[in-house]
Amino acid sequence: MQLETRTIVKTTHTDSEYGSIGTPLYQTSNFRFRDVGVSTGYDYTRSGNPTRDTLEEVLADLEGGARAVAVSTGMAAISTVLAHFDTGAHVICTHDCYGGTARLLKLLAAQGKIEVSFVDLEDIHAVRLAVKPNTACLWIETPSNPLLRVVDVAELSKLAKVYGLLVAVDNTFLSPFNFQPFKFGADLVVHSTTKWLNGHSDVIGGAIISRTPELGERFQYLANALGTTTGCFDSWLVLRGVKTLSVRMRQHEHNAHKVAEFLSQHPNVSKVYYPGLVSHSTHLTAKQQFTGFGGVISFCVKTDDVEDVKHVLRSTNIFSLAESLGGVESLIEHPATMSHASMTAEHRREAGISENLIRISIGIEHADDLIEDLGRALSAVQRAKHSVSEARLTTC
Ligand SMILES: Cc1ncc(COP(=O)(O)O)c(C=O)c1O
Repeated sequence: MQLETRTIVKTTHTDSEYGSIGTPLYQTSNFRFRDVGVSTGYDYTRSGNPTRDTLEEVLADLEGGARAVAVSTGMAAISTVLAHFDTGAHVICTHDCYGGTARLLKLLAAQGKIEVSFVDLEDIHAVRLAVKPNTACLWIETPSNPLLRVVDVAELSKLAKVYGLLVAVDNTFLSPFNFQPFKFGADLVVHSTTKWLNGHSDVIGGAIISRTPELGERFQYLANALGTTTGCFDSWLVLRGVKTLSVRMRQHEHNAHKVAEFLSQHPNVSKVYYPGLVSHSTHLTAKQQFTGFGGVISFCVKTDDVEDVKHVLRSTNIFSLAESLGGVESLIEHPATMSHASMTAEHRREAGISENLIRISIGIEHADDLIEDLGRALSAVQRAKHSVSEARLTTC
């Protein structure tokens, strides 16, 4: 069955008693035992719940993995994966990762729990040089956040296998509709289901999908032991979101292409980052690995005045000024002060995240309306030129 069919079939007919079409919501913390020491297969929802189990089966199926565990947030997924490693293990992580991932890795490193190296994963030689005797994990985020750089997961996985490293891919930005990292050698796929998988900006959730049953078992165990598993209602909402994943992703991408083309031609835009653009630095790698390019675009306002950037961010009507991505509604945000504020200015500079950079998450509204909204906001740059500001930005 194709993915479009599986998103429907796997989330339907899960109730053998009454044949409900919608997946039943087992909103319960615990389950009555049949007899002393004889459970129904479920005893306590932290350890297992039928609604969450259905979501986990669906996610494992969509990614092509052996087993999944659904956890409370994307960060809970990353924390649970990192809890797998022994004290002192070394992690190599993409240098332009999500700010929260960088913050967690640095926190654990400062506590002496792990070692971390942030490396440009486009540079395979730099990755090889970064490997140490205690390196245990290669953490890949592709496309990266917010510059949407795409790395060659197959090549990186091949290298990681030589050194016995576990390859974890954060697939939040594309969803299994557009990328299936197991086909390229990954051992683990991590998601913030908050984003495209749920798709409606009403859940915070995460998931770890494992290539092998053994790893799947390990992460079920860790999520239960750490208490990171997700709740029943959130599982049910993500299941509902998954049903429309393919139609949403097609519309997000259709709109994103049009918006990216528009921004590329705009006189007040100095650079556009979208893997679907032929001009994108890693477009060819993206084309080889992905079945679509997703709905996130970043672009640089042509200015070195912070007021210009603020004007654009304040001037949209359809795009809401908000963090996150992957919902049906379009969002606009400023990585330097919002999604990536937890990175130090130096880390942002090294990762190429300049202060005139704006990230947008493209919704499923009509593309023409989105273009009109951004066009009007960008025309505000001309007006902002006359405003008083001493601030100078790091610009791209
Ligand atoms: C790529 C990526 N991974 C992980 C996360 C963390 O997910 P959550 O906010 O659900 O904890 C985010 C959040 O934006 C993200 O963009």
